[in-house]
Amino acid sequence: MKTQVAIIGAGPSGLLLGQLLHNAGIDNIIIERVTPDHVLSRIRAGLLEEGFVEMVKEAGVYDRMGKEGLVHDGFEIAFDGQIRRIDLKKYSGGKQVVVYGQTEITKDLMDARDASSAQTVYEVSDVEIHDPKTDSPYVTYTTKEGNHERIDCDYVAGCDGFHGVSRKTIPENMRTEHEKLYNVGWLGVLSDTPPISDELIYGTSDRGFFLCSMRSETRSRYYVDVTMEEKVEDWSDHRFWEELKSRLPESIRGNLVTGPSIEKSIAPLRSFITEPMQYGHLFLVGDAAHIVPPTGAKGLNLASSDVNYLYRIMLKVYKENKPEAIEQYSKLCLKRIWKSEHFSWWMTTMLHKLSDNTFELGVQKSELDYFTGTETGLRVIAENYVGLPYDEVE
Ligand code: APR
Ligand code: PHB
Repeated sequence: MKTQVAIIGAGPSGLLLGQLLHNAGIDNIIIERVTPDHVLSRIRAGLLEEGFVEMVKEAGVYDRMGKEGLVHDGFEIAFDGQIRRIDLKKYSGGKQVVVYGQTEITKDLMDARDASSAQTVYEVSDVEIHDPKTDSPYVTYTTKEGNHERIDCDYVAGCDGFHGVSRKTIPENMRTEHEKLYNVGWLGVLSDTPPISDELIYGTSDRGFFLCSMRSETRSRYYVDVTMEEKVEDWSDHRFWEELKSRLPESIRGNLVTGPSIEKSIAPLRSFITEPMQYGHLFLVGDAAHIVPPTGAKGLNLASSDVNYLYRIMLKVYKENKPEAIEQYSKLCLKRIWKSEHFSWWMTTMLHKLSDNTFELGVQKSELDYFTGTETGLRVIAENYVGLPYDEVE
């Protein structure tokens, strides 16, 4: 097979990139390791920056998000027995965020892809990227029927997540990996119960971190932080709800509506970046290149950040005949990624007990008090939470 851009991975990165390129008349094929249902079964946050929403509109996949997405002007942070609101709209110059589950946007992108003539191959294995440093790279893989296939292409987009093949295709001596592991994970529960509040509430208490989030007005998502020794099978619904209640401020505890969990899992917190994000005609996109702790709600938004840059660079290459435009990809992505990695790390250190050092705990409380209690501090949180602007592609 021959195409212009071979995309590895049909998660949010691969599907959004594929849709944008297809709409622009740039031929692409997506190959994916698992089934569509498996991709959709992943429960992930869906707190979307305006930049992501604009990309979804540009991809022509905004209809359902426009009807069902919840537009939020702010969120709250609870600490030290108080709850303070972060007025995103006021302190970010009018910007908002949209709550719309990652599963939903992935479903919308899959439906759009199915309705197009673009090719997607699921349940592939043995994916390998060949000659990425040349003008004619190619990808080989085995189909679920056991056939060995080859895709000749101009460029390869590695949208294959943290455990994918793309990052490992870059020789170890040509890449630098930066990582910070936290000694905590988030135990999350999804339940068909009305959210405790109209907006998200992040909080820290003597018993630890909590987050009250939602997927819709009838489906809630809650988290408490746990040590990495915890096992999800040791957490009954009752134990989870009691723990969450014990962490909630007294003033809102009575508003919590509990119910059976429809999903329950523990995700470790990790910060990770690989540099550079490209190797010749291979580009790393989204989780393939970076991971953030979920405290800043950036994971999905960083995927769309990279997609934005790669898509605009591909327009320069194919519509303006500027092949040299690819040289700016990694620098453009990393400039914004590092700032979002910082914000995610910072929110995590402010809201989790990561040490017993009383000085560090004192600094943490004073940091929360300053950044949620002053116009300057609120502006810093708001500008980062709604998403920093995308830089122009030359
Ligand atoms: N060959 C083909 N597909 C692969 C391979 C491979 N060798 N390895 C992984 N994949 C697929 C995975 O099955 C997955 O569907 O690549 C896809 C990568 O999707 P994600 O991991 O969701 O990464 P991304 O699309 O960048 O989206 C990032 O997803 O994990 C969340 O928190 C993350 O919200 C963020 C978003
Ligand atoms: C979620 O709804 O799952 C969610 C929301 C905000 C976050 C993390 C997770 O920061």
